[in-house]
Amino acid sequence: MKIVQTLFFFTAFITNSYTGDFCYDEEHCNPYSWGDTFPSCHPIIGEHHSPINLDHQMSRNLSLEALKLEGFGTAQTGEWTLKNNGHSVVLQVGLGMEVRGGGLPADYTTLQLHFHWGSNSTNGAEHTVNGRRYPMEMHIVNMKTVHYPNLTAAMEDPTGIAVLGVFIDVAEARLSDSFSLLSNLVPAVAYKGKTVRVKPFPLSSLLPMNNMSQYYRYHGSLTTPPCSKAVVWTVYEVPIYISYKQLSQFVSGVYHSEEGAHPSALLYNNFRHIHDTFSRKVYASTDATLLSSANLTVHSLLLCLASVLCAGLP
Ligand SMILES: *[C@@H]1O[C@H](CO)[C@@H](O)[C@H](O)[C@H]1NC(C)=O
Ligand SMILES: *[C@@H]1O[C@H](CO)[C@@H](O)[C@H](O)[C@H]1NC(C)=O
Ligand SMILES: *[C@@H]1O[C@H](CO)[C@@H](O)[C@H](O)[C@H]1NC(C)=O
Ligand SMILES: *[C@@H]1O[C@H](CO)[C@@H](O)[C@H](O)[C@H]1NC(C)=O
Ligand SMILES: *[C@@H]1O[C@H](CO)[C@@H](O)[C@H](O)[C@H]1NC(C)=O
Ligand SMILES: [Zn+2]
Repeated sequence: MKIVQTLFFFTAFITNSYTGDFCYDEEHCNPYSWGDTFPSCHPIIGEHHSPINLDHQMSRNLSLEALKLEGFGTAQTGEWTLKNNGHSVVLQVGLGMEVRGGGLPADYTTLQLHFHWGSNSTNGAEHTVNGRRYPMEMHIVNMKTVHYPNLTAAMEDPTGIAVLGVFIDVAEARLSDSFSLLSNLVPAVAYKGKTVRVKPFPLSSLLPMNNMSQYYRYHGSLTTPPCSKAVVWTVYEVPIYISYKQLSQFVSGVYHSEEGAHPSALLYNNFRHIHDTFSRKVYASTDATLLSSANLTVHSLLLCLASVLCAGLP
């Protein structure tokens, strides 16, 4: 019981601050000011920050094959919890899932997943791909199993945490039923501090299952305070798709204020700005599609067309 409580405390610590608070929308506490309260968030300290822009300057690494995601394909027993912590909507999962392989240096125990999203302009992912920002990004947070449940120890280990990043794109025709399991619960956690129980479901239903061997890999940080340099990032290349309605359940339905606060404050644009890769290596997995400059031009043109066509949508 004690271990479980400790874990819950430290898991909250990943997306919650412990001294002072951080925010995304006010000058004194937004991502550019995090370093004042959380020294390791300061961009001058270290060259390890996340997120980054993923571009054609990465190199192929033929040893990076699909990760092994233990327990992701079945519904676990027990109970999960969805929570609004004032910075994101977080799904705390129970024990039973582990991540390994794909060049990861160890086995990692899955702790939680959460989301980053934008505003009506549909800009919300943390990592960008050739400068493009998808509307949302999901982070599945895992800690090195040998440290479990001591997250402090994991955050002091340069490879103590493995985060799987999944881009989320919007396409009306591709309504995701599995995503509805979560997005339909968002109104129940609209306000900061609210929690709701979630019946466990296979996490694989939230992943781009046909394209799991296509990803990017680099070493970086947590994208929320304390910005620990402890993360082995795996960012999947191919997004999952949700509908506009599902996106708006986050963009226009989540508050960083508590229930009854006046005025109430919507939580949106909860993503950190892009950081330089400096001398870090960014790898493309064996099956990832490396971005070429020719592809870039065609891609940018399509994006531009899409943004004109979509400009009128909520
Ligand atoms: C490829 O990735 C593996 C695992 O991360 C790493 O040990 C190896 O050094 C990388 N290979 C190259 C050529 O950089
Ligand atoms: C998005 O637009 C809707 C309708 O115009 C508005 O009610 C909502 O506050 C907007 N959300 C954000 C985050 O700007
Ligand atoms: C957790 O790890 C930290 C850093 O290694 C250590 O100082 C602390 O004693 C550990 N806590 C527990 C409860 O083992
Ligand atoms: C996803 O993988 C399938 C094969 O499993 C492939 O045909 C398709 O091109 C991939 N999609 C993208 C966007 O790379
Ligand atoms: C796009 O990139 C892929 C993979 O690098 C390459 O095979 C393809 O020829 C490129 N397309 C164009 C139009 O250059
Ligand atoms: Zn995150």
